[in-house]
Amino acid sequence: MTNNKNIIIFDTTLRDGEQSPGASMNTAEKIQIAQQLEKLRVDVIEAGFAAASPGDFDAIYQIAKTIKNSKICSLARAVDNDIKAAGEAIAAANAKRIHTFIATSPIHMQYKLKMSPDEVIKRAVNAVQYAKTFVDDVEFSLEDAGRSELPFMKEITQAVIEAGASTINLPDTVGYRLPQEIRYMVEQMVGFIDSIGSNAIVSLHNHNDLGLGVANTLAGIEAGARQVECTINGLGERAGNAAMEEIVMTLKTRQDLFPGITTNINTKEIYQASRMVANITGIEPQPNKAIVGKNAFAHESGIHQDGVLKHQETYEIMKPEDIGIEKNNSIVLGKHSGRAAFKDKLGQLGFADLASDELNAAFERFKLLCDKKKEIMDDDVRMIVTDEKLNHNKIYEITAVQISDCSRGVPSAVVCIKHKDKEIIEAGIGDGTMDAIFKTIDRITGYNGTLLDYNVKAVSEGKDALAKVTCKVTFNDDNPPMIGHGLNLDTMVASARAYVGALNSYLSMKDMLNKNNPHQI
Ligand code: KIV
Ligand code: ZN
Repeated sequence: MTNNKNIIIFDTTLRDGEQSPGASMNTAEKIQIAQQLEKLRVDVIEAGFAAASPGDFDAIYQIAKTIKNSKICSLARAVDNDIKAAGEAIAAANAKRIHTFIATSPIHMQYKLKMSPDEVIKRAVNAVQYAKTFVDDVEFSLEDAGRSELPFMKEITQAVIEAGASTINLPDTVGYRLPQEIRYMVEQMVGFIDSIGSNAIVSLHNHNDLGLGVANTLAGIEAGARQVECTINGLGERAGNAAMEEIVMTLKTRQDLFPGITTNINTKEIYQASRMVANITGIEPQPNKAIVGKNAFAHESGIHQDGVLKHQETYEIMKPEDIGIEKNNSIVLGKHSGRAAFKDKLGQLGFADLASDELNAAFERFKLLCDKKKEIMDDDVRMIVTDEKLNHNKIYEITAVQISDCSRGVPSAVVCIKHKDKEIIEAGIGDGTMDAIFKTIDRITGYNGTLLDYNVKAVSEGKDALAKVTCKVTFNDDNPPMIGHGLNLDTMVASARAYVGALNSYLSMKDMLNKNNPHQI
């Protein structure tokens, strides 16, 4: 068994996390999250599944060009086209990996793949060999390893290692196993890999269907797994994946039980990463979620409060500061706060590296908000900055929205849009105010959008909370859905911005794809 006690943190928020219902992100959002993952010092970022869509390809391609300190990985099924797309998408990365997979459980091989075990091995070997023509570092996953048979797992593992795989991932794809079973599986596989003279790393990828994703991952680490796949806030298919913040903070807090086990994660960036992922996806961690939930460090009972005031460790096993929550900063700025205070706050919230035009634009929006809202909370500031960064590319920009009294007559809207320094005003009607706004935008821009999903959420508390709207839209029907966000005190204005944000994403992706790669939409 390996003596290396450093655990490779493989983050799959942008791939498996994005497969959470409702969590789709656009390219700009993915780049922002990837930059935060880099700040966290994640070892490997699984940036997406390149062959899934031109949008996925483009996001991986841009992330590979932007990120310098984490390895960039793309997922690929064990088929040539997927592997080729993965190889091309990550080509520009400083450090890169292809992650290819095929199912190895009897139920998947028989019913899903309709392939014999021998055919599966052959396909896996071909995939790894082909992936090696693009990169040195190839990871192979035995999908549904949790329900696969050990003798077959060993056979396919030996074959893919001989073909060049250096990481063997054993996903509990359906979140079925218990910690003692995962421990046994990992012990067996680590022992086997040792016995064939290989130093390939055993990795885990535990889904959370029984709420055991993190427990299973920790059991696997005890048994010798040296890479763990995980996501911020535990996002992922169905009940999600093992949450990175829980794994990392358990290893740190319980060093007595994991002696010498380390990760490279800068835990002070955890809270910022959690907030960013929640704000971008609109999926808020439950309040009592370990580590990053709103109540994770809140003490409600008098006895607890008294204890913590006397000695923090009476009721706290970790300090909020360890994950980057600064004390006394939940109510921040107000109308009298100047630029310096705003900049200082941005630094505290992890946005010290804002470009000066972004800072100017964010400060302007902050001041406008101060006129309308008494207390500006941390999440308000985060959202302003995130929105400013994401809506940087303003091909079309909403400058005004006016709606009719919707309780009487036909719902109508007047929309004003800036495009190439020209201001265009149009009025329209619809089957509701929102419909009127969207139809008027379509008329102005000449693009016909179909709204697939719409979500509105209050950013902070109170009647004067900012509204954050997320729209999923396809333009001119045959194209992949685009996500747009809009932020405003007025829900209708936020909706118009979200809709136009999706259109801007669509247009800039089309433009980038035309310039950068052959996978065009
Ligand atoms: O859950 C799973 O099996 C996966 C693989 C593709 C690694 O996500
Ligand atoms: Zn998965």
